[in-house]
Amino acid sequence: MSVEHFWQYAYIVAAVLIILSIKWLNSPATARRGVQAGQIGMLFAVIGTLLRHEVMSYQWILIAFVIGSAVGAPLAYLMPMTAVPQLTALSHAFGAVAAALVGTAEYYRHYPTGFQMAALVIETLLGYLTFTASIAAFAKLQELIPTRPLTYKGQNIVNLGLFAVAVLLGVWTVVGGAPGWAFPAFVVLSLLFGVLLIIPIGGGDMPTVIALLNSYAGMAAAAMGFALNNRLLIIAGALNAASGFILSVVMCKAMNRSFTNVLFGAFGQVTESTAATTTAKPVRTATAEDAASILATSRKVVIVPGYGMAVAQAQHKVRELTDMLVKRGVDVQFAIHPVAGRMPGHMNVLLAEADISYDRLHEMEDINPEFTETDVALVIGANDVVNPAARHDTASPIYGMPILDVDKAQTVMVIKRSMNPGFAGIDNELYYNDRTLMLFGDAKGFVSEIVKEMPKAA
Ligand code: TAP
Repeated sequence: MSVEHFWQYAYIVAAVLIILSIKWLNSPATARRGVQAGQIGMLFAVIGTLLRHEVMSYQWILIAFVIGSAVGAPLAYLMPMTAVPQLTALSHAFGAVAAALVGTAEYYRHYPTGFQMAALVIETLLGYLTFTASIAAFAKLQELIPTRPLTYKGQNIVNLGLFAVAVLLGVWTVVGGAPGWAFPAFVVLSLLFGVLLIIPIGGGDMPTVIALLNSYAGMAAAAMGFALNNRLLIIAGALNAASGFILSVVMCKAMNRSFTNVLFGAFGQVTESTAATTTAKPVRTATAEDAASILATSRKVVIVPGYGMAVAQAQHKVRELTDMLVKRGVDVQFAIHPVAGRMPGHMNVLLAEADISYDRLHEMEDINPEFTETDVALVIGANDVVNPAARHDTASPIYGMPILDVDKAQTVMVIKRSMNPGFAGIDNELYYNDRTLMLFGDAKGFVSEIVKEMPKAA
């Protein structure tokens, strides 16, 4: 096989590995293999591309490689697990702007026509709008700009009008005869539209929007594949676009939000009636010693992890507690809400990191019927995903969101630091329930205390 043709084989291997990667990422048991397949696939894609005869000089590629690594490696290592949604937004921004810049360069260098110009216009439109939208999403999630939705009268008309003008300029560029200013104006409008797209969306919907932006970045890459006649880009971009879209649909379902609501609904504005109040209603509290003796004498315990477990990095202590209880003959299971934490699969990743067996992890629909026969539901840093208001309070921003039915267990124990609300910013009636015991403290510290106080097994 000549070096000339090696890249074609490398592309085939890369495409197969990327497809397998998505398949393996479907289940926690094969997810690690999925990540490795994706990495090796990408390596083949990069090596294959570098060996193509169109590459005239490696000097600039090397400089870009060094700059990219200098930005990417610290981001990957230094960003905490809880900031993964922001990191994902940033990586979409980089991917999208790369596609858009390639499109712009191709426009000025080759000025393609017909189908390739149409692909180039779609690539640059999606690339630039995804770039600014992802940067704005990053800024909202990082709280560099206000996370609440910014809305004004006629906003949708302004946004759609601006988008329509950008599309018209794009069509003009494709059909030909457009003046020199049309393409730069098209780029500016695309960039502006990205920001305007994010402004009316609240922090609560941001992770869903990020999955959608993932989809747009994938479409931009696929369009780039058509513009450059590169099949690997078409395959990888289409997979990215489809998986991002499916993920955002799954997230919308899990939060009972419709797509149009996410894009135009200004979720995140907490109304007076549902906002967390500071009026001190009585709650029952318990110590680590109380909790340990209740757990030790239980038959069945269901642990419900949430964002607080991630913040406290309590998963290893949770594993210790699980092992201890299992040794005593207690049936210990985990209930995973699809949007617990701040990203899809957040809890699965943490529990897998602590080597908690996948067999103990159950999805919401499977575990919910079991709460009625559960002695203790141990909620660790979860809040919104166990708030019964979602079932009946029509004024609540989480009304209609499917929740874990922990309130149906014999006893509910909640580990959190205070009465502060969770992500949705609302009070949780579960805490005032007669059968609920509040265990106030940091999740890692409190679980460690319970482990220490656990009575010796007979
Ligand atoms: P949240 O409702 O955000 O509640 C987390 C709780 O953890 C807080 O009430 C907080 O109370 C507690 N906490 C924070 N740090 C802690 C620590 N060190 N130790 C102990 N507790 C700690 O979390 P959830 O129940 O997992 O719900 C997730 C929320 O995020 C939902 O509203 C969901 O819609 C939203 N969301 C999730 C996703 C995905 S994909 N996962 C996407 C979009 C939106 P204290 O401050 O009192 O400790």
